[in-house]
Amino acid sequence: MVDTHCHLSYKDYDNLEEVIEKMKNHIIIISGCDRSSNYEVMELCQKYSNIYGCLGIHPESVSSATEDDLAYIEKNLDNSKIVGIGEIGLDYYWDKDNKEIQKKWFNRQIELAKKYNKPIVVHSRDAIQDTYEILRDSKHNKIDIHCYSSSLEMAREFIKLGAKLGIGGVLTFKNSDKLKEVVKNVDLQHLILETDSPYLTPEPYRGKKNEPYNVYYVALKIAEIKNISIDTVLEETTNNALTLFDLNFKL
Ligand code: NI
Repeated sequence: MVDTHCHLSYKDYDNLEEVIEKMKNHIIIISGCDRSSNYEVMELCQKYSNIYGCLGIHPESVSSATEDDLAYIEKNLDNSKIVGIGEIGLDYYWDKDNKEIQKKWFNRQIELAKKYNKPIVVHSRDAIQDTYEILRDSKHNKIDIHCYSSSLEMAREFIKLGAKLGIGGVLTFKNSDKLKEVVKNVDLQHLILETDSPYLTPEPYRGKKNEPYNVYYVALKIAEIKNISIDTVLEETTNNALTLFDLNFKL
């Protein structure tokens, strides 16, 4: 299994070693959001062989971001454990007043990804149309739309750009009919698994802290919705993730 998007930090887990140990036969891709989380991404992926990292400035962090933060990301892109840029994107739910600043940082980080031929992990909340237009215009095609939550119609547009849809714990929630519709109608080749730990814990553990191992329960739900075996889901989504993040080995 590959958890293609989560946040692991010593401040969020007092049993971090244990959480990582549980994934020892699997891969975890952690994303940074700002200066300090990017430092921690570097630290954790050097320390654990099954952890890879993405570095990025999250839209909620752009107001305090500096040129140095961008330079830090660029400087570390040649590290073999850094496999992408993320999490980046647009968030008009928390912040509507700085749309132009968010777009500027999103575009600059996409440019960096293009320059180094890296995938991007994209956060989009209440901003799906602008996210789509920026990605379309960028002509970058290594894209993970993390925690995809928009319509089936929009999903098809993103897939045309070459994007993979990151499917997480929300799929297991009772009120997720729209996402279930997406998963049912989109071919497995376009889907990857994620947890967004420590948030968005899937059923049957909703209410507890999320952890990467719980991608299993997301896969189980995908298998149920698509009426296929869990092994097929795990194998295919793992291959999709390994291809997108250019991790060239077999698990
Ligand atoms: Ni996230």
